[in-house]
Amino acid sequence: MPQGRPRILVPGKMSQRVLDRLPETFEPVFVAAADPALVTPDLAAGISGIAVGGKLPADFIDAFPNLEIIANFGVGYDGVDAAHAAKRGVTVTNTPDVLTEEVADTAIGLLLNTVRQLPAAEQWLRQGHWAKEGAFALSPLTLRGRTVGLYGLGRIGLAIARRLGSFNVSIAYHTRTPREGLAYTHYPTLKGMAEAVDTIIVIVPGTESTRRTINAEILQALGPQGVLINVGRGTTVDEAALADALQRGVIAAAGLDVFENEPYVPDALLTLPNASLLPHVASASQATRNAMADLVVDNLIAWFETGAALTPVAETPFKRKGA
Ligand code: DGY
Repeated sequence: MPQGRPRILVPGKMSQRVLDRLPETFEPVFVAAADPALVTPDLAAGISGIAVGGKLPADFIDAFPNLEIIANFGVGYDGVDAAHAAKRGVTVTNTPDVLTEEVADTAIGLLLNTVRQLPAAEQWLRQGHWAKEGAFALSPLTLRGRTVGLYGLGRIGLAIARRLGSFNVSIAYHTRTPREGLAYTHYPTLKGMAEAVDTIIVIVPGTESTRRTINAEILQALGPQGVLINVGRGTTVDEAALADALQRGVIAAAGLDVFENEPYVPDALLTLPNASLLPHVASASQATRNAMADLVVDNLIAWFETGAALTPVAETPFKRKGA
């Protein structure tokens, strides 16, 4: 560790475990939001790291001339302008691996909730309808006989596919290039996969190239028995097109853990009985969020102590100057 405790800025909300651990090694500094207007020249000069859980735009990164590292809380780092950080020579880290199995578990839970209407069935019981009116209606959909297409097959996609392997469903995937050594059917286009399957699970990162790629055309191709599950990023789905497709029976049902403008969910989706909606909880167990928090702090420690971050993102494979 270099002389003096590095000053780490935390803009906006952050996991309590990160806040508890930072002072053991660093001097934490807080601002209410990642807004350059809140940064005084004194504050700017002293900051060498940022720990962030939300958006971190280019103009905020540029406010810190001595910034070396941005530690993002989450595997998805679409909120951080990593391309801009790379141009500035600033390392960005994320929290892969520690949440893979948790997110995959949630994806399967959301799939079952959506297909078998389990949240609505529980409400039926809790609201007393079972005793007064009888059994909950049979679910029109089933997982039996389905072909599930994964849109994205990174670490989490593979963990979802492994789970689906024991559900006796057919498994396909769409990625730009096929992954070697896998028995799942590969589709080079999203449209081709949507035509071939009846269930899509979205688990791609939220980038410009995935933005609103689940659109009216893809939903049409998925068809009237179609089920769409999204545990990636809300930006990947055209939410207006999805609400329209659910209303008109273009597809049968959707299960969403992520939304374009969180925490706000379009009214058009909130009122649909064939949409199963979760408030971005895929990784949200105490144990997994603790592991993510530890990786945020451990990346910062590794950077300042050894000169190399533990989990830098692909855009910033840098070493610390002089390390
Ligand atoms: C992530 O890590 O990107 C998840 O979306 C957080 O739950």
